[in-house]
Amino acid sequence: MRKKIVAGNWKMNCNLAETKLLLEGLTQHLPNQITAEVIVSPAFTNLHYAFENLKETPIHVASQNIHENDSGAFTGEISASMLKAVGVSHAIIGHSERREIYNESDALLQAKVNQSLANEITPLFCVGEKLPAREAGQHFEVVKQQIEKATFHLSAQEFKKIVVAYEPVWAIGTGKTASPEQAQEMHKFIRDLIAQNYTETVADEISILYGGSVKPANAKEIFSMPDVDGGLIGGASLKADDFIEIIKSI
Ligand code: 13P
Repeated sequence: MRKKIVAGNWKMNCNLAETKLLLEGLTQHLPNQITAEVIVSPAFTNLHYAFENLKETPIHVASQNIHENDSGAFTGEISASMLKAVGVSHAIIGHSERREIYNESDALLQAKVNQSLANEITPLFCVGEKLPAREAGQHFEVVKQQIEKATFHLSAQEFKKIVVAYEPVWAIGTGKTASPEQAQEMHKFIRDLIAQNYTETVADEISILYGGSVKPANAKEIFSMPDVDGGLIGGASLKADDFIEIIKSI
């Protein structure tokens, strides 16, 4: 059985004091019985604090990025071993904001996926088309290329360790979510693609998360789709009550 996962992408929000408050809200109100694996991704400066304060809880800590090299003259960057040392278990890789604003290419993302796996950090690998591609009916092709180019070099054993997140760019932070049917259609497409490149068994084991304007009001409907295994949540993960409601919707 593949895992259900709800991950919060905090993006560039929450300083240390705000991180403390948000984590307190989460840990105090998280129900005892949760069916999903829960992940939060504070900013780099707050990862250590988050891990230290979450280690007695079921909540995992993700970084929002990872560098592709082990160490060296990369001013301003953070390595996988630095992340691992402060308790990071997952890394968001290939978020559309990084692809778009920081020009992260498929080749770079492939190197980041490799680096993450080599350090036993689970990649939360993001894919998703922009609005013009959807309107032109090219969304399947865009997502296919993104997955193939950055992850299909992996062996089946390695690929099984990654989590895929489908985030249509037009649904991120816009309040305009994909319909449950649109999400299901793309998730099924991704799973079939994985089955073709690897095996049905591998495809069955991969968790595919949906991201893009998930809120307490729409989470249940989206999560009820057979190929949607959870969510990658932006804005709503910054409010403890909303994030918990979403976790409970799985
Ligand atoms: P929103 O939930 O704010 O639309 O953001 C989604 C996202 O980018 C998660 O990575």
